[in-house]
Amino acid sequence: MELEIIILAAGKGTRMMSKLPKVLHTIGGKPLLAHVIETANSLEPKKIIIIYGHGGEQVQQTIEASISQNISNKIQWIEQTEQKGTGHAVQMAAPFLSDQNKALVLYGDVPLIQTSTLKSLISIKNSESPLSLLTMILPNATGYGRILRDIDGKILGIVEQKDANQEQLEIKEANTGILCAQVKQLKAWLERIKNDNSQEEFYLTDVVGMAAENYQKIPSMQPETIHEVEGVNDKKQLAALERCYQKQQADTLLLSGVTLMDPERIDIRGDVNIESDVTIDINVVLEGRVTIKSGTIVGQNCLIKNADIGANTRIEANTVIEDSTVGDECNIGPFARLRPGSHVHKGGKLGNFVETKKAEIGEGSKVNHLSYVGDAVLGKGVNVGAGSITCNYDGANKHLTELDDGVFIGSNTSLVAPVKLGKNSTTGAGSVINKDVENEELAIARGKQKNISGWTRPIKKS
Ligand code: UD1
Ligand code: CA
Repeated sequence: MELEIIILAAGKGTRMMSKLPKVLHTIGGKPLLAHVIETANSLEPKKIIIIYGHGGEQVQQTIEASISQNISNKIQWIEQTEQKGTGHAVQMAAPFLSDQNKALVLYGDVPLIQTSTLKSLISIKNSESPLSLLTMILPNATGYGRILRDIDGKILGIVEQKDANQEQLEIKEANTGILCAQVKQLKAWLERIKNDNSQEEFYLTDVVGMAAENYQKIPSMQPETIHEVEGVNDKKQLAALERCYQKQQADTLLLSGVTLMDPERIDIRGDVNIESDVTIDINVVLEGRVTIKSGTIVGQNCLIKNADIGANTRIEANTVIEDSTVGDECNIGPFARLRPGSHVHKGGKLGNFVETKKAEIGEGSKVNHLSYVGDAVLGKGVNVGAGSITCNYDGANKHLTELDDGVFIGSNTSLVAPVKLGKNSTTGAGSVINKDVENEELAIARGKQKNISGWTRPIKKS
């Protein structure tokens, strides 16, 4: 018996007060629906069917772009043009399910459901009943369907909030919506669902009552935490689940030996691989694919996006690093900005207000203060003085600046690319260098200083 998963995601999400379809809103930088798909995929299903509604093109495109090709290949998209209820939504998937398999129903707007919970649910023995339910006990179950049980605790059915009587409304056990059923039985029950209820919808929950008529016991279980089964209906709930998710990730890092100065003030929006004994100070945001090796310290307020950071490096406060690589034992910032294609090799140093782009900074090279280094290759042990810049753009094309090993750039030098400076060459402060410089040479290109004696300053007219 194989597993097939149906994800219901056709709802409009009116309460989000947004033009974006609900399931495309993100948690940890990833669309809600992508979280559910990835968790679904971790159960190794044969197929994942997604029931989507209006705005479907956008949903499909965005989701396909945010999950791997492997998972994409397993997905079958089915459009439900009119939302006639959860039962109707599952009916649309029915023709694509194989009778001998098991089906698990998930929701595109319930993003934090855990693999372990679902594994337990799908492995409940169905010798007694071909249906198992995930329920939850809530202090206040308003809004949810209530689980009806007899005095022996046998599940009899589910009653929706809007159809419940006063006594039923007191019930604290609620339906999460998530259930697992044998396809053959499920199909038979789905055919019998009617919409004779207060919402005139086809309720998936009606299959529970049908199962109860024919089977002695309907097994049920509860998730470890309520967050797992909480749905997103508005931005407030989205924000609350974002915090939950961030807390989970912070806990994972802490338990793997990463030091977080405050686990409530780090945000991870992507896939990170951070070794033990990395220290991360407050208000750090990690985005996309980020790796950080052991012994590195990341200071306050840094943004690190799609970057590899080596071991025993210091990223000082307020540094922004994007699509770049920083080697071991480097010192970056405070207030440095590494734009895409920057690569600082071992022991390199980029100081405050230094911007780099498509730049190789060779081993032990230093750019310490207020510089721009773009489209440049720096060898080993290069020193770029304060306020120096590469003039890499002529208004039409970008050009390369090459500084060989041991070059010393005097402060406030403009390197007009394309230009090449040989080994151990030096530029005088304030020079505009637009011709190549040979090894060991000193290049000075600036107006000569003239001192005028007996000169008087202009006097302000009365
Ligand atoms: C449903 C359950 C309720 C449970 C609650 C948990 C039913 C009848 N009720 O109620 O017992 O406590 O979820 O949150 O199942 N959807 C579609 N197509 C449709 C209708 C819904 O794809 O035609 C999707 C929605 O996008 C949503 C999910 O199904 O993700 C649940 O639908 P919703 O209308 O929110 O159901 P509830 O009334 O909350
Ligand atoms: Ca709901």
